Amino acid sequence: MEKIAMIGVGYVGLVSGTGLADFGNEVICVDIDAEKIKKLKNDILPIYEPGLLDLVKKNVDKGRLSFTTDLENSIKNSRVIFSAVPTPSAENGEVDLSYVFNVVDKLAEVIDSYKIIVTKSTVAVGTGDKIRERILSKGISEDMFDIVSNPEFLREGSAVGDFMRPDRVVLGTSSEKALNIMKGIYRSLYLIETPIVGTDVRTAEMIKYASNAFLATKISFINEVANICEKVGANAQMVAKAMGLDGRISPKFLHAGPGYGGSCFPKDTLALTKIAEQVGLKATIVEAVIDVNHRQKLRVVEKLLKFVPNLKGKTIGLLGLAFKPNTDDVRDAPALTVIGEILKQGGQIKAYDPEAMNEMCKHYPQITYVASSEDAVKDVDALIILTEWNEFRNMDLDYIKSVMKKPVLIDARNIYEPDMVIKKGFLYDCIGRKVRL
Ligand SMILES: NC(=O)c1ccc[n+]([C@@H]2O[C@H](COP(=O)([O-])OP(=O)(O)OC[C@H]3O[C@@H](n4cnc5c(N)ncnc54)[C@H](O)[C@@H]3O)[C@@H](O)[C@H]2O)c1
Repeated sequence: MEKIAMIGVGYVGLVSGTGLADFGNEVICVDIDAEKIKKLKNDILPIYEPGLLDLVKKNVDKGRLSFTTDLENSIKNSRVIFSAVPTPSAENGEVDLSYVFNVVDKLAEVIDSYKIIVTKSTVAVGTGDKIRERILSKGISEDMFDIVSNPEFLREGSAVGDFMRPDRVVLGTSSEKALNIMKGIYRSLYLIETPIVGTDVRTAEMIKYASNAFLATKISFINEVANICEKVGANAQMVAKAMGLDGRISPKFLHAGPGYGGSCFPKDTLALTKIAEQVGLKATIVEAVIDVNHRQKLRVVEKLLKFVPNLKGKTIGLLGLAFKPNTDDVRDAPALTVIGEILKQGGQIKAYDPEAMNEMCKHYPQITYVASSEDAVKDVDALIILTEWNEFRNMDLDYIKSVMKKPVLIDARNIYEPDMVIKKGFLYDCIGRKVRL
């Protein structure tokens, strides 16, 4: 049992802190957001994540998980300090490390015994070394701390399962002592034979960027293939399926759609291009991935304009605002671009998402949010499905057609069969599949 402080109680910090407590460690989760901590103390989660509330309650009840805003005492009382604070894109596309350094500076102020400083946030390669130098520069001796990079690979929407049964755990450190303590923290995962990749700090930092950039590449690749499929009369879904049967390729992340979003892929791909730039290189493939992704988001609006050429005075129904199902996260979601573009062209929007409306309202308070998909389709001039929530997969299309002003359906997630929808009288388009218009 290790005493752990988890600093930053967002998607990563809350899930990781809870997971580490479930592994048998004593975890105190710290955040500067007092409102968030107050809610957590009352069993109210700040995020929507399936299965998380039960796991939080279970570990709080067992006395292994607690929440506080008291950073100083949390650091003092723990040997291992995880940092899971945000690392957003700075204006120039590089990673903004100010949150990370704020925590490090605080830690340097209060450190009074040996600590392992673990970075869970996704940080630029070389950040671990910068953290070390920063702490040393405050007069703290080298034997008082070790640095570990332990990047996180969980996916929002399935974060609990991903953390509890990961494909691998990456531990980057130059300290044998810290490596052994970290392995102890993750001991529960030995039982399920999770590979533990021990490496140096810079390699661990790079593993995270390379992994995310590769996954983003798969998405942009299949979107590009989908766009070509549309022109040559091929079916991108079938192409992806057959490609995925090749074990070297794998079927995952090969779904054509409105482009990737979320808090990680957009900022991490951009950051990797900046990391390359700083060492005099050009990340040509990653730059193309970003470019394809941006254009893919706009393609959804282009498809809409085919059926509704002038959006002035028109109302468009949007189903799905979160960047993917089972989350309320709208950071860099395709919906942000699509809404922005429709509003710019004079259209109005009626939107529904099972979880993400509060979040989207922070960006677009001026659009209309409704309580159900049935409400979102009423009197609209077109309907766009942007997130493949299960409840959108089997809607009553006859009802929808009967209440829409014009039966235009843009299925940006390919969840309906084109022939079936068209037979019902819809003007329909999707991504990468041949549509008989
Ligand atoms: N969200 C994901 O799916 C995911 C997956 C893997 C890695 N990551 C990485 O993990 C990191 C965190 O991402 P997130 O999505 O959990 O962020 P988040 O914005 O959801 O949460 C960050 C939390 O840190 C808190 N915070 C900020 N400064 C603090 C400070 N000085 N002291 C204490 N708390 C502080 C904020 O109040 C917030 O609650 C990022 O680097 C991200 O790239 C995210």
